[in-house]
Formats: sequence, C-alpha cells, structure tokens
Amino acid sequence: MPQTWMITGANRGIGLALTIELLRRGDHVVAAARNPWGGALGELAAAHPGALTPIELDVTSDASVAAAKEALAGRAIDVLLNNAGLYGPRDRQSGLDVDFEAWREVFEVNVYAPVRVAQAFLPNIEAGQGRKIATISSRMGSIGANPGNALIYRSSKAAVNMAMVVFGNAVRARNVSVLLFHPGWVQTDMGGGGADITPAESAGGLIRTIDGSGMAESNSFRDYTGEPIAW
Ligand SMILES: NC(=O)c1ccc[n+]([C@@H]2O[C@H](COP(=O)([O-])OP(=O)(O)OC[C@H]3O[C@@H](n4cnc5c(N)ncnc54)[C@H](OP(=O)(O)O)[C@@H]3O)[C@@H](O)[C@H]2O)c1
Repeated sequence: MPQTWMITGANRGIGLALTIELLRRGDHVVAAARNPWGGALGELAAAHPGALTPIELDVTSDASVAAAKEALAGRAIDVLLNNAGLYGPRDRQSGLDVDFEAWREVFEVNVYAPVRVAQAFLPNIEAGQGRKIATISSRMGSIGANPGNALIYRSSKAAVNMAMVVFGNAVRARNVSVLLFHPGWVQTDMGGGGADITPAESAGGLIRTIDGSGMAESNSFRDYTGEPIAW
C-alpha cells in the first residue's frame, strides 16, 4: 500500500530529491512549491500523473496555505515534510551587523511557516496512517554544537526546533509524531557544490530514518542517518 508524503519546497534541492526517491519506490507525493508546474518538478508530474500531485504553495502566505488546504481537504497524508527553507544573505548576519529585514524574511520561511503548514494540514495527517510531521532544521541551529557566525540562519533553525517541539507536545495525545532533522551538508543551491553529500544521499537517509520513526522518536533532533544532535 503506497504512502502519501507531502513535501514543501519540492521543486529543487533536497525537496526534489525526496520527491524523486519516493516516486521511485512507489509512494505518492503531494509536491508543494511556489511554482510546481515548471522545471524538473513539472517534468516529473507529467511522467507520474497518478502518483504526483503538484500543488501551488507559498509557505509564508496565509492565503496560499488556505487555498492548498482547501484543495487537499479530505486527502489522507501519511508524512508531512516541512522542507522549504532560506539561508538569508551571505553577509550582514554576524553578531555585530545584522540585516533585520532579511532576518524577518528568513524567520517567515524557516520558523513561522513550518508551524503554519503543520497546523493547516494536521487534519490530513490525522486522516492518514503514518501520522508523522518532519521538519528539516539544521545542525547550525544547535546551540550546544555550534559556536559560530550566520546569526540569521542559526537563530531561525534554533527557533524552529523549539516551535516544533511545542507543536509536538500539543499533538502527542493525537498520536502524531514530530521529527526534526539535519539533512547533512548537501550539494544544493543552498549547500553549494563543495558540500559533503548529494541530494539523493540525503533524501535516501531521511526517508529511511523517517520510515523507522514513530511516537518513541517524537520531539527528537537527529541527522539524516538517525544520529542524535545536541539541542
Ligand atoms: N543544503 C544543505 O547543506 C542544508 C543543510 C542543513 C539544512 N538544510 C535545510 O534543508 C532544507 C532544503 O534546503 P536545500 O538545500 O534543498 O535548499 P535550496 O536548494 O535552496 O531549496 C530551497 C527550497 O525552499 C523553497 N522555498 C523558499 N522559500 C519558499 C516559500 N516562501 N514558499 C515555498 N517554498 C519556498 C524554494 O522554492 P523556490 O524555488 O520557489 O525558491 C526551494 O524549493 C532547508 O530547510 C534548509 O535550511 C540544508
């Protein structure tokens, strides 16, 4: 019986690799993106008309989330994966100089949106069998493991960890598990060409680890291989 996964930011990078791998193994994917019709995702949709449902979704927009929620009303989703993310500017995110406008924009995508999307699609998750909501955070959000720069990005990932743990506490009684992941340092537009692993390696590890996770792992922060990361 195929599972249904919903993935945000499914049009490129790790989100696209997750979509490709899930389709390859026969699962169904609700592929959410600001533009789900063009590029590689558009081609995948044409090649997998039954298994891939493209859906337009700007995760920072209440109206866009409401429209996607209406379009997917009644559809069971086994795993919701908050993947869409922003790094912010390469400069002006140090302890001594922060671009506050960019900081707000990154918080919209990396912090508020995963909660907005999780709340909106909770009924779909409760209608499914998997009952898992995973969010792609980052090791850079670990306060314990990371002294360093990148104030905007690190603070956004530390904040989404806390936000999703609070969300996880709220849905524990509904038997929905909430998982936080570092996907590895991945060769994407964000990670750059010199990163450690390919998007396919990251996606394969994330899917394996999510498959093997349930309520016992709820509110954990781990890497794509399942190795725990310090908060
Ligand atoms: N790559 C790494 O090494 C690495 C390491 C740690 C954590 N991560 C995390 O992994 C996740 C995926 O990163 P990636 O490397 O695949 O990044 P990426 O290649 O830069 O892709 C980012 C994705 O997020 C989407 N997105 C951004 N803003 C959005 C919005 N408002 N609404 C909907 N989608 C939006 C983008 O869509 P558009 O095409 O429309 O812009 C794109 O699909 C992110 O959460 C990132 O922080 C990545």
